[in-house]
Amino acid sequence: MTSRTGKLHAHEPDLLARLDAAERLPGAEELRAYSYDLLRAAPGARVVDVGCGAGRAVAELDARGLRAAGVDPDAQTLAVARHRWPGADVRVADAYGLPFADASLDGWRADKVFHELREPARALAEARRVLVPGGRAVLLGQDWDTVVIDSDDPALTRALVHARADAVTAPRAARRHRTLLLEAGFLAVTAEVRTVVSTGPATLPMLVQLAALAGAFPRERVDGWLAEQRERAATDRLFVAVPVFLAAGTAPGRPPARGRHRGGQPPSTPTTAASGSSRSVQNSGHASPSAAGRASLYTSAVPGTSPSRAKSAGASRSS
Ligand SMILES: C[S@@+](CC[C@H](N)C(=O)[O-])C[C@H]1O[C@@H](n2cnc3c(N)ncnc32)[C@H](O)[C@@H]1O
Repeated sequence: MTSRTGKLHAHEPDLLARLDAAERLPGAEELRAYSYDLLRAAPGARVVDVGCGAGRAVAELDARGLRAAGVDPDAQTLAVARHRWPGADVRVADAYGLPFADASLDGWRADKVFHELREPARALAEARRVLVPGGRAVLLGQDWDTVVIDSDDPALTRALVHARADAVTAPRAARRHRTLLLEAGFLAVTAEVRTVVSTGPATLPMLVQLAALAGAFPRERVDGWLAEQRERAATDRLFVAVPVFLAAGTAPGRPPARGRHRGGQPPSTPTTAASGSSRSVQNSGHASPSAAGRASLYTSAVPGTSPSRAKSAGASRSS
């Protein structure tokens, strides 16, 4: 649903269905697990999932032995979260005013949220307030201008992707995750990109929604575009790739002595992003050897979802 300003409401009716579909895409579960690893939180650590939506991450963090809470300004979505995950600690609040005391949390996470924020710096200032020194912040989300769809009509595809991006409050927020963390004063900031590849029919509803944004394009051409995508799905030729941008950083100051961090370097030590992919490409855009300059941008597939493996995973879902 779009508002009169053309922007999408946070509680658009089909949002939960689309998020549920996204959670089922090949690689999505691994990506969430990786984002939890980036929190470097030991059992018992206190973490918040900001913009928690239907609460899956809160439940999964709890299952890791963390003390997780979720916040979201949308009460209807939180009602779904409470229904799905009874006992989960989810609260109505937004990223700018978290219901936690100063320096009371070890981890802060926001997944697919910053594209909805008009004031991302304010949200990260709030993250700094609630995090203990040495606490971790993890951001992930897609860049709405950077969705790859194979089509015989690339010009229309480009127009549709851009129209969808223009309906989002901050469509290019994700490419700024690293910069936002640095500007908020986080240390040891890492950034990387992992691409979710979809080849199965689960992506068709998203493509139908995209086609509805065709605006001035002739109806027959848009119908043809959609028919081609349906045919691709039916014949296992669909290809949609969505790069997900992850960035993580450490709140400045010495961590408490209780040994909160697990398997990571001391929080004040600058680090570079790690990637297990042999296809990683390091961004050499920085000449500076500073902490910020050493943080690297990697491009890699989600572990276990190389395009060919992702394809067979998608195909198996279509059968
Ligand atoms: C695309 S959903 C993502 C939900 C969840 N993080 C996930 O990965 O499934 C974006 C969520 O951000 C929430 N949101 C919107 N504005 C927000 C704000 N100012 N502060 C915190 N959350 C916000 C929306 O209500 C919605 O639940």
